[in-house]
Amino acid sequence: MKKRGIFSGISLAVMAGAIAYFSGTSISRAGDIDATKLYMSHCKTCHGENGHPTDLGTGLGAREFANAEWQAKTTDEQIIKQINNGTPEKMMPFKEKMTQEEIKALVPIIRGFGKK
Ligand code: HEC
Repeated sequence: MKKRGIFSGISLAVMAGAIAYFSGTSISRAGDIDATKLYMSHCKTCHGENGHPTDLGTGLGAREFANAEWQAKTTDEQIIKQINNGTPEKMMPFKEKMTQEEIKALVPIIRGFGKK
């Protein structure tokens, strides 16, 4: 009985270490964020799969992300700010729903729609 207690104590410590190790690396590396998946689950309903606004998005006033002019005049900071704060009655804010790393990871996705 005593021996078994020590054994499970050790394996618990090893497991906790492993969890800390893996979660630590996934938080610090932006490359582990699946930005495409985030876009598809949070943004596609209005901005469309390819950045072309859906009927819902168009009705609310969403822009065409593939528009070169829009891409050129919009800064990464504006994109990040828009995702964070949204626009009242048009787009919900995402700052409570995603981490800043996740929000930043969405910028290249939006930019990618402009490269056609
Ligand atoms: C409910 C529909 C809806 C959802 C969901 C949505 N948006 Fe929007 N988004 C809009 C509308 C409408 C606008 C235009 C807002 C305005 O005119 O101020 C907009 C504007 C934007 C803009 C700025 C474009 C511009 O006109 O300058 C960006 C960038 C953006 N959205 C990114 C995202 C991202 C990234 C997500 C997912 C995390 C997302 N949106 C989710 C409706 C939505």
